[in-house]
Amino acid sequence: MSAGESAESSANPPVRRLSAWDADELARLAAEHETPLYVMDLGRVRENCRRLRDAFPDADVRYAAKAHTGRAVLETVHGEGLGIECASAGEVERAFAAGASGEDVQYTAVNPPDRDLDVVVERWHDAPDLTVTVGARDTIDRLRDRGFDGRLCVRVNPGVGAGHHEKVTTGGHAKFGVPYADAESVVRDARDDFDVVGIHAHAGSGISGDDLSAHREVVRRMGDLARALSDLRLEFVDVGGGFGVPYREDEPPLDLGTVAEATRDALGDVDAQLAIEPGRYVVADAGVLLTTVNTVKESDEYETVVGIDAGMTTLLRPAMYDAYHAIRNLSVNDDETEIDVTVAGPICETSDVLCEHRPLARPSRGDVLAVGNAGAYGYEMASTYNSRPRPAEVVLEPAPRLARRRETLAALTELER
Ligand code: LLP
Repeated sequence: MSAGESAESSANPPVRRLSAWDADELARLAAEHETPLYVMDLGRVRENCRRLRDAFPDADVRYAAKAHTGRAVLETVHGEGLGIECASAGEVERAFAAGASGEDVQYTAVNPPDRDLDVVVERWHDAPDLTVTVGARDTIDRLRDRGFDGRLCVRVNPGVGAGHHEKVTTGGHAKFGVPYADAESVVRDARDDFDVVGIHAHAGSGISGDDLSAHREVVRRMGDLARALSDLRLEFVDVGGGFGVPYREDEPPLDLGTVAEATRDALGDVDAQLAIEPGRYVVADAGVLLTTVNTVKESDEYETVVGIDAGMTTLLRPAMYDAYHAIRNLSVNDDETEIDVTVAGPICETSDVLCEHRPLARPSRGDVLAVGNAGAYGYEMASTYNSRPRPAEVVLEPAPRLARRRETLAALTELER
């Protein structure tokens, strides 16, 4: 690595570990806004956008909004010049509300409910530059029925997938995209009624450096397809998102330069712009979750259980994917003795544990814990199961601002009649 590169990476490091967050500031925020509380650092979101754009200078970089749809995040990402990839009508509405224009918005329809198509087609009348990505002939027919003849992209099932867990490996799963063997004819048939602008594939989510061969294979297949369709003069080949981040403290960050090079190599010569749509990479290490210890239960028979006020309803990833998130006790000095703990939430379900048998600086009741890499698929997957209101969220701009207030108990029953 040259001196210039190392200076640049220290200004915008490829990973922000939990230990790099200012413990005093986080503790102050927890005291002011109470817990559970998500904290999103918009400066770090900006850095992540810039690192992606620097690594893929010729590509169209689109943020997969599903990782975090908060308005402040969408505005920040949009301000950095990224497009916004949306998974639903709700995300499309959020993208426009955050200042995006039609050309910035890609709506990826997966078995879309009628209501979603109605909203998006309505939007398209005012914003004819938005793009709809379809993964089934049915969706194409349903768009045609609604009078849509705008920008269309065809999602292809590349037949190969990767990801941090089988539940997030999309490529090769029948649910997503038109089968590779049918892709060319689906694209050609759609040409008569739509402005076919691109092809799309997504291998999966949380792809690590070790999965690069799967990524290469997906991109290679998309390159081949693009060449087979070269007479159509496609605008872009979107190879999806999935860029992994290191959740464990000793895991190295993805080398974006290597990924970018592998992507360009595998794509080969195509007369269309490369597009990528990372979600996690943009927001994961820009967010932490703060939670307070309310119970410390020691016994001779079992490990020590540390009860906290955040649960699987606040951060679902550990329960759903056995995901690892680093945890730091903000209320003690770093030299405090570590003990083995199981950290568990308030939900009446065994899966509601953040970690098991993990060394943690000895916690006491009232201590505030920070949970790392909570910016992606954190608040976004929060629910009100067990009638637990969703948490509040503060953004650092860099001054802290309450971006989402805590849901109230009254709000839980508002829809009932
Ligand atoms: N593009 C498409 C079409 C996608 O389906 C996804 C993610 C992305 C882009 C962005 O993937 P990313 O860069 O964020 O890996 N809740 C799970 C992740 C589900 C991802 C679903 N699709 C988790 O917490 O790990």
